[in-house]
Amino acid sequence: MEQLFDYNIFLIGFMGAGKSTVAKYLNKTYGMKVIEMDRMIAEQEGMSIPEIFRTHGEEYFRKLETSLLVGMKNQSNTVVSCGGGVPMREENVSAMKKNGRVVLLDAKPETILERVKDSHDRPLLENHKDVEYIAELMEKRRPKYEAAADIRIATDGRSASEICEDMIRQLKKEVR
Ligand code: S3P
Repeated sequence: MEQLFDYNIFLIGFMGAGKSTVAKYLNKTYGMKVIEMDRMIAEQEGMSIPEIFRTHGEEYFRKLETSLLVGMKNQSNTVVSCGGGVPMREENVSAMKKNGRVVLLDAKPETILERVKDSHDRPLLENHKDVEYIAELMEKRRPKYEAAADIRIATDGRSASEICEDMIRQLKKEVR
């Protein structure tokens, strides 16, 4: 299979923005390797994400995210599905920029709620499954998300294939 990009793709965006779904599609359709940050961290720690937050606290989890990203230097042809908090740290953003393009997946708070409402693996949303809370956290994060992103794709009401084809088109025409 022909390699789609000669760099890595970092998918960023709010919880439920579709990062894992898009990563899966890029793997299935274009044979890109996938790194699911949350899954890798959970495997490495032998604990689920909520357990890590409960046992060691959020700061510990954030350090694990940074080490994982900084350690990715030798990856290529890889799509990295980042945890929603990754762009909040400057060092994470520079690690991503060093070996890939950063793609922001966007969705309305209503869409996010619909996608996350039945899951219990996101400690920051547990007991906060409402549009107001999601919208507020999203607005707080937006400046960092936008500053980190090379391109931005809307996901509301679109299939994984539509989102990916749009992303590929934008990345291919991007002049750097
Ligand atoms: C988080 C997002 C989660 C996970 C953790 C914290 C965040 O990942 O890393 O619960 O701060 O936005 P997803 O964006 O994959 O849900």
